Amino acid sequence: MAVAVGRLGDGGARDTRPGRIEEIWANLAIASVPIPSCLMTTRRLMIEARGLHKSFGETHALRGLDLSAAEGTILVVLGPNGAGKTTAVRILTTLTRPDAGTATVAGIDVLHHPADARQRIGVAGQYASLDELLTGRENLVMIGRLYRLPGSTARQRADALIDRFELNDAADRPAKTYSGGMRRRLDLGAALMAQPPVIFLDEPTTGLDPKGRLSMWDLIEELAKSGTTVLMTTQYLEEADRLADDIAVIDHGRVIAQGTADQLKRQVGGERLEITIGEGSSIDAARRVLGALGAGPVRVVDVARRASVAITSHQGVLTRAIRELDAAGVAVDDIGFRRPTLDEVFLAITGRPPEESHETAAEQVA
Ligand SMILES: Nc1ncnc2c1ncn2[C@@H]1O[C@H](COP(=O)(O)OP(=O)(O)OP(=O)(O)O)[C@@H](O)[C@H]1O
Ligand SMILES: [Mg+2]
Repeated sequence: MAVAVGRLGDGGARDTRPGRIEEIWANLAIASVPIPSCLMTTRRLMIEARGLHKSFGETHALRGLDLSAAEGTILVVLGPNGAGKTTAVRILTTLTRPDAGTATVAGIDVLHHPADARQRIGVAGQYASLDELLTGRENLVMIGRLYRLPGSTARQRADALIDRFELNDAADRPAKTYSGGMRRRLDLGAALMAQPPVIFLDEPTTGLDPKGRLSMWDLIEELAKSGTTVLMTTQYLEEADRLADDIAVIDHGRVIAQGTADQLKRQVGGERLEITIGEGSSIDAARRVLGALGAGPVRVVDVARRASVAITSHQGVLTRAIRELDAAGVAVDDIGFRRPTLDEVFLAITGRPPEESHETAAEQVA
């Protein structure tokens, strides 16, 4: 299947080439004068992967993957099960070697200088890797020592992270007694012990309850605000929507679309007004009302008695819809705005639904 790869929408031309302003400034022979902030439109690329290929036997996990993230931004790699997210993270964090392609992190070539690259990388995996018998605090201190931090620095950082991640009550219990959410937070804490400039988070919120997910989102946002570059993977458009400066949608090991959440959503028609039509009311009447209210065709799922239409703005839409449906004699069981799901993004971009992501679809529609 051939899919054109490119940035979506109209605002995607942000120039993230490293060093252009610096170069121009140096050529002006006033390099000793700091570059005025108004000229600082470029940000250094902290993650750059080009043409990554990786096969496991017959499985082509990556087929020419390109990714890049500018300093202090959050790049979300969004894709269904098996898209190649973990493989990409493993390559960028030096845990796996690609068959072809290049990758740099914080300006270091990860393939040629893996040890140097590891000094600049923090990683929290899809499966938290903790020493079960050590306490949370001991786990953090041990990681700090592995990074060769002096003991007192390791202990201070561990205490600060325990505080920040609200693990005070559990800090001195063995990790094996931790809940899923606590493990995730501790794992992220471990990734931050060395205060790396670049952090990789592979599905950091999978398995977390809604509260845990929100607090993880806050932590990730805080990290980026403090200048850390974050690459995180997810299967949830909602998560990408909330956190990403830039989203790379990947499928079958390559990027099939890239842009901001708004640009991606524009591609699938943005937000929709969705109603569930009461038993005994006419679906056709509902279709007419929604057709007049929205932009574009009305989608109807007969069995579920659900109808939806794309809208361009929230303003007054709900009130008008309720009033006009009522006037047309249509009883409504449920009404609301719904954002496109990952399934719809895929459908719009590739013309087919994502494979093996039924769980995700069910969760996002719910
Ligand atoms: N060590 C391995 N041996 C064999 N096949 C592998 C290995 N690692 C990954 N694969 C295959 O490569 C493809 C990409 O896997 P990967 O784990 O990168 O996907 P993912 O996007 O992280 O998926 P998920 O959302 O399920 O975590 C899949 O088909 C997977 O089965
Ligand atoms: Mg994975």
